Amino acid sequence: MPLPEPPVLETQRLRVRTFREADLDDIQVVHSDDETTFHLPCGTWRTEEDRRRWHDRIRVMLTAGTGVQFVLEERATGRVIGACVVFRYDEESARAEIGYVLGRPHWGYGLMREALEAVVAHAFGVWGLRRLEAEVDPDNSRSDRVVRSLGFVEEGRLRKRWCARDRIYDTRIFGLLRDEWKPCC
Ligand SMILES: CC(C)(COP(=O)(O)OP(=O)(O)OC[C@H]1O[C@@H](n2cnc3c(N)ncnc32)[C@H](O)[C@@H]1OP(=O)(O)O)[C@@H](O)C(=O)NCCC(=O)NCCS
Repeated sequence: MPLPEPPVLETQRLRVRTFREADLDDIQVVHSDDETTFHLPCGTWRTEEDRRRWHDRIRVMLTAGTGVQFVLEERATGRVIGACVVFRYDEESARAEIGYVLGRPHWGYGLMREALEAVVAHAFGVWGLRRLEAEVDPDNSRSDRVVRSLGFVEEGRLRKRWCARDRIYDTRIFGLLRDEWKPCC
């Protein structure tokens, strides 16, 4: 069974809701910045083709039922300022992986942490997942801080795991178990 469609997750500053096609223009703004995409395998969106490839990947995931694509809609403006995804869902093991990206002007305000708190609570509390995973580039200190602040534990390092955009790099594997998760509020 695929992950059930989540409701809109309301947080103090955000509506964390599922992706709609109409969000693509806002998501393109987020992915069009080299600093934002530096640690992402898919790279900066420069052409219609880049945008289409991302959209196709989401469609394949949704059709297969192996994930849910969320967007972060800023309450104050109604603009989509970032996205996070629960993917590689394995029903039998009740586990999945998370990924996330936030538009650069919004870094440093705790917004991704706020969104992921809601997503993690939903994943453990409503979907009944047992384990969440995250892969982080060892040079990506912001992402490292986000996952650790949520209680994810570093479980290992996979050497030279990624070959993307002319870089070969290691990845750190983080895991968070439902039983050890402590909601902050
Ligand atoms: C990774 C990424 C989402 C982190 O964004 P961020 O804004 O640093 O993370 P958060 O939203 O959790 O905010 C945390 C920061 O806000 C600060 N902050 C300010 N107000 C805050 C509040 N009310 N609550 C919590 N933190 C707050 C924190 O002190 C922290 O700052 P610090 O990291 O300098 O200590 C962002 O850098 C990004 O999109 N990067 C590019 C894509 C990427 O690398 N994705 C991850 C791939 S693994």
